[in-house]
Amino acid sequence: MNTFRYTLGVSLLAIAASAGAASAAKLTLYCSAQEDWCQLMARSFEEATGIDVNMTRKSSGETFAQVKAEASNPKGDVWWGGTGDPHLQAAEEDLTDPYISPMRSELQDWSISQAASAGDKTIGIYSGALGYGYNTDLLAANNLPEPACWKDLLKPEYKGHVQMANPNSSGTAYTTLATMVQLFGEDEGFEFMKGLHANINQYTKSGSAPIKAAGRGETTIGIVFMHDAVAQAVSGFPIKVVAPCEGTGYEIGSMSIIKGARNLEEAHKFYDWALSADAQNLALQVKAFQVPSNVNAETSPSAPDLSSIKLIDYDFKLYGSSDERKRLLQKWDEEVSTLPQ
Ligand code: F6P
Repeated sequence: MNTFRYTLGVSLLAIAASAGAASAAKLTLYCSAQEDWCQLMARSFEEATGIDVNMTRKSSGETFAQVKAEASNPKGDVWWGGTGDPHLQAAEEDLTDPYISPMRSELQDWSISQAASAGDKTIGIYSGALGYGYNTDLLAANNLPEPACWKDLLKPEYKGHVQMANPNSSGTAYTTLATMVQLFGEDEGFEFMKGLHANINQYTKSGSAPIKAAGRGETTIGIVFMHDAVAQAVSGFPIKVVAPCEGTGYEIGSMSIIKGARNLEEAHKFYDWALSADAQNLALQVKAFQVPSNVNAETSPSAPDLSSIKLIDYDFKLYGSSDERKRLLQKWDEEVSTLPQ
């Protein structure tokens, strides 16, 4: 009798648990911003809504590739963060769905124009300028001059001292490639990438890895978004942040809803919440120094002041287009990455 009661009790509990699991609201979040910010966004949304979040962090190009590979059987609901170009490519390739959030009236113009160029299949959530940072101790120890321009990085004395990410996996590195093409013209831009290749010690997968390595003293110079270099500097590492003298490109970090999302209602909830000033202010807790897209959100005083940086008129529509992104990456693979170092 006791055994019967025990078995019955366990079975009822199991049924209740599976019924609960079946009805529990959930969201699968693909995140391409920095890991600690991704974690904080996921946990804070769970607290705000009771919706369980399953979050994976991957770089922008990697997430694009995953969303594309999963297109016939989508597993993700929302793709939050990462550079805008692959979000635009995903929109063009019909991998993401349009959505007009009621939060739009609170957003900066650059956020809305990102949406406008993608038929509302993506939207800007933050922006930040490209640049680089260097470890001042290592620079001095190696008797190296202080770089101030992009072209300084081509000097032979920096051989083995420069790190950047691979533009296939990383949105930061793709922004670097597209920036050089826009700043110097395609031929000279590729000559720049080839010259740089001679000085590169490693192409990392993630965009911010080079400046973290510089902070740890594993490389002297890291080509990254300036906000990622600032994060190292304010954490106490000997990093100097450079806005290159020739001018530079920038990103509109973006968010998209994945086409065929299994949890569409939850995806819309996350989307609206992520555009709110309160959600965007979470960035301040994790030293994320991008400029937020909600006009009422706070920008950290440590964030690079975009109005004082010489920014190019980055052509997001062109460099986020499927043909152009594919073409530039293939050209970089064939003409740059294969060169001897
Ligand atoms: O570390 C944050 C960040 O620089 C974001 O501003 C940017 O959108 C993202 O990383 C790009 O990461 P990745 O280069 O790894 O795609």
